[in-house]
Amino acid sequence: MKRSPSTLGFVHRFISGKDRRLTLVLLHGTGGNEEDLIPLGSVLAPDASLLSPRGKVVENGLPRFFHRLAEGLFDVEDLKFRSRELADFVNDASATYGFEPKSVALVGYSNGANIAAGMILGEFLVPAAAMLFRPMVPFTPDNPPNLNGLRVFISSGNFDQMVPRGESERLARLLRDAGAKVTHNREDSSHGLTNEEARKASRWLLDSLTE
Ligand code: MLT
Repeated sequence: MKRSPSTLGFVHRFISGKDRRLTLVLLHGTGGNEEDLIPLGSVLAPDASLLSPRGKVVENGLPRFFHRLAEGLFDVEDLKFRSRELADFVNDASATYGFEPKSVALVGYSNGANIAAGMILGEFLVPAAAMLFRPMVPFTPDNPPNLNGLRVFISSGNFDQMVPRGESERLARLLRDAGAKVTHNREDSSHGLTNEEARKASRWLLDSLTE
């Protein structure tokens, strides 16, 4: 069913791109909003369409995508519920804006990377590709998902003060075990993104699309 943009359930921005084969779904970090990752999206794929929702959970005035019990300690039930809800939003938005669900690449930073990983591991939405910047393991699925054909770029920071070092390795292993093709990039940086890794992710995306 084609719904009007205001009834899709998330405050969001949609920017229609020239390249109809690719829609980046941009998922911001804690304290961000739907504007935050638009510049990153334009670097990653200048001609792609961009869909950028704002997380609905507010923690001390800061928007995010799911509840947590403490820093790094997730409310997994809420995370799963909101992963499904966000996947439904992307599907509904595809009808509203006229893009193919299979053209979707998820792009998440920090909290946004964690809900992107939640959507994937719960198989609520299995995109064509995912770029996860500073992710953690959202939860360990009860049954291994089938992620054959999915390409994932993980980018973690060697000096990240928020994400423990083993987390991104663990996520990469979970995704690989489920059949995804994972590229794990490590930057000599902290939790913040660098221009260099955005360029690396952009090259990776271009290669993935032409492979
Ligand atoms: C999370 O809660 O998702 C992580 O701790 C990262 C963040 O704070 O955004």
